[in-house]
Amino acid sequence: EKADAQMLLIFGASGDLTTRKLIPALYELYVRNLLPENFVILGAARTVLTDNEFRRKQCDGILTSQKELSAKDARLSLFLKRVYYMGFDTQNTDEYETLKNRVEELQNLYSLPDNIVFYMATPPEMYEVIPLGLQKCGLAYTSDGFRRIVVEKPFGTDIKSAKHLTRLLESIFDEHDIYRIDHYLGKETVQNILVLRFSNGIFEPLWNRNYIDHVEIVSSETLGIGNRGGYYESSGALRDMVQNHLLQLMAFIAMEPPVAFDPESIRDEIAKVFKSLHHYTPEEMQEQIVRGQYTAGTIAGESVQGYRDEKNVSGDSVRETYVAVKIELDNWRWAGTPFYIYTGKRLSEKKTEIIIHFKSTPQQLFVGQCSGSSCNQLIIRVQPNESIALRFGLKIPGSGFEVRQVSMDFLYSSLSDKKLPDAYERLLLDVMLGDSTLYSRADAQEASWNFIDPIIKNWVKRGKDGLAFYASGSDPEEIDRLMPHDKKCNCCNEMM
Ligand code: BG6
Repeated sequence: EKADAQMLLIFGASGDLTTRKLIPALYELYVRNLLPENFVILGAARTVLTDNEFRRKQCDGILTSQKELSAKDARLSLFLKRVYYMGFDTQNTDEYETLKNRVEELQNLYSLPDNIVFYMATPPEMYEVIPLGLQKCGLAYTSDGFRRIVVEKPFGTDIKSAKHLTRLLESIFDEHDIYRIDHYLGKETVQNILVLRFSNGIFEPLWNRNYIDHVEIVSSETLGIGNRGGYYESSGALRDMVQNHLLQLMAFIAMEPPVAFDPESIRDEIAKVFKSLHHYTPEEMQEQIVRGQYTAGTIAGESVQGYRDEKNVSGDSVRETYVAVKIELDNWRWAGTPFYIYTGKRLSEKKTEIIIHFKSTPQQLFVGQCSGSSCNQLIIRVQPNESIALRFGLKIPGSGFEVRQVSMDFLYSSLSDKKLPDAYERLLLDVMLGDSTLYSRADAQEASWNFIDPIIKNWVKRGKDGLAFYASGSDPEEIDRLMPHDKKCNCCNEMM
């Protein structure tokens, strides 16, 4: 399906996200013939650049993302011809009139209908001024086309700011034209959770508290915070990864089947999951949540510095770079089945995976069989080596009845020899088509902040009390405390 002719207006276009992710994704869509027949991409930011300087920069970004591509490729230059840039003071709402003139000029040049997607790839401080500027010059409105606005994360830093931003955006745009992006939902493996669950009859009867013992959602990274010290000091792992990406993954696992596969039916079910998040008392928080911070250590043989020595980080910062949360959902399907979410920087391995642990048999008849929580696991590997595996016990050949765990694996690489599309390709295409299924809605966002806010307040109150330190390249031991021993697998060492 192709989207209608339109303009994509990217704010913050001189930044890293545009060059590294957005433009390469748009180019890939162009090559796959998925962009509208008639389109213009207009970048806007404060930096002064000519169209050609901007194109050269974007060309480098595309070539970096596609090593085999040549700068002389005809398609590349055809694509870049449709890319324009405008430098102006984006902080000053009076200057949006000049932007409006440029937009109209380009629309006339290409006979484009009045359809525009605005993309805010800027620091969050700009999320208010841009919509206000668009409102002031009239660009936010159209009588015979559409307007959509994409907002990058973080969407607020707490419930108050998230609500405030929603109110501001809704005073200018319709809620269904506001696209809160979460790039995890653009990942192929994440979307496949919906298909796996809702296109197969075999899982649904088991998909509840009666048969699932617990679920783990792990997203570990080896990278540190890089140059993002300033941002990370005000964010931390809970806001950066849990409030959005990992709660969204949990919602895909936990949601009820939607009545239809349309954006609102799906987003209704996701919002219901967030509304059923069990809120902890301060005492429970100490039991159910672990936070840590990396110190100096070794990653892939190289020494790396601790978090407090990173650029723009305070020397006595108590910001968490690691968090493990036991989540309980107060609803019929999941009461009593915890979801454990772990995420952190500078851990031993880069991986994101979801492990569904099914309950064990009521009696252990065989040698080698798991006791405690069973080894029947469904493992959804989001990245890298995207795959789905089902683990179960089988007999070791020969005498007796000794059990060994085996794994039935599906690898995405065997389905297609092409690399999986980048998350941004899917999400950009969806917003151009007007499909908000994979974007989060205001009520879900607010319900997740309602869960996160008290945890952060509790941490602020406790200062460094309860903050564990772990050496870069290792996994914090404190997480052991979260999961009762009877939930740990005693026959295979792959639990965590
Ligand atoms: C971003 C976070 O949203 O997601 C980063 O701000 C994190 O801190 C990144 O590294 C992880 O994304 P991915 O796709 O590499 O798992």
